Amino acid sequence: MNYEQFKKHIYRLTHIDLNSYKERQMKRRIDVLTQKNKFIGYDDYVHALKNDKELYEEFVGFITINVSEFYRNPEQWRILEEEILPDILKNGNGMINVWSAACSTGDEPYSLAMLLLDYLPKDNIRILATDIDRKVLSKAEEGIYNFKSMSNLPVKYINQYFIKIDEKRYKIKDSIKECVRFQQHDLLEDSYPMNFDLIICRNVVIYFTDEAKTKIYKKFNDSMNSNGILFVGCTEQIVDYKELNYDSLKSFFYKKN
Ligand SMILES: C[S@@+](CC[C@H](N)C(=O)[O-])C[C@H]1O[C@@H](n2cnc3c(N)ncnc32)[C@H](O)[C@@H]1O
Repeated sequence: MNYEQFKKHIYRLTHIDLNSYKERQMKRRIDVLTQKNKFIGYDDYVHALKNDKELYEEFVGFITINVSEFYRNPEQWRILEEEILPDILKNGNGMINVWSAACSTGDEPYSLAMLLLDYLPKDNIRILATDIDRKVLSKAEEGIYNFKSMSNLPVKYINQYFIKIDEKRYKIKDSIKECVRFQQHDLLEDSYPMNFDLIICRNVVIYFTDEAKTKIYKKFNDSMNSNGILFVGCTEQIVDYKELNYDSLKSFFYKKN
C-alpha cells in the first residue's frame, strides 16, 4: 500500500483527511510511529489500527499533536488582556461569545475563562471549545493537570481556580468549567458555529496545507460578529489577511473587516 492508499484508509477509519495536512511532515511522523510499533509497511499497520483500540488512539493522538499549556506564550495573553479585550468588551453588549478551536486538553479555553472572569460575571461568558480528538476533550472535561502545564499561568489564577491533588497534579474548579462547553469538531470537515466576538485558533494550522489554511480563515471570518477578533499562534501570521477580509491589529490578532 502506498501513502495515497494509506490516506484513503485512514479517512475511512478516522474521518481525518490527511490530504489537508502538510505531507512531508505528516509522512515522517507516521513513519516514526509505525517503526516504533515495529510495523514494516502501511498494510499491516492499517489492519492493526482497525482491530486495536489502543493503537488507534495512539495514532489519532500522535498525528493530531495535542500538546498544550495554560497561558501558552504569555506575552500574547498580555496583549489580549491589555490591548484587545478592552475594545471587544466596549463594543459588546455585556456578553462575550468565544470559540477556542483545536483546544486540545482545555488549557487554552480554561485560561481564557480565568482571564474573562476578571472582567465579566460568569453568566455573561460563553466559551465553546472544540477539537477533533475525543480523547483530549475528555481530559479537558476531567480538568486534572500536571503542574508543568501551568507554569506560565499567573499565580493568582492558580490560587483562585485550582485544587491541589498532590505534588504534581491540580484539579480545575467547577466555577471555571461552567464557562466552557466542549464539543468534537473537525476544522477541515464540519460546518462552523456562528456569532463569535473572539476566535482563538493556535498551533494547529501550522500542520495544514496553505489551501486548507485559507479555507479555515475564510470560514472563521464568516463565523464572527462584525468587529470580531481572530487570535492565532505565534508562528501563524496570516500574510494575505487583506484578501481574507481581515485587518491586522497587533501581531497575531486580526479583526474582521
Ligand atoms: C498543538 S495542539 C494546540 C492546542 C492549543 N490550541 C494550544 O495552542 O495550546 C493542536 C490540536 O489541534 C487538534 N487538531 C488537529 N487537527 C484538527 C482538525 N482537523 N480539526 C480540529 N482540531 C484538530 C489536535 O487534536 C490538537 O489537540
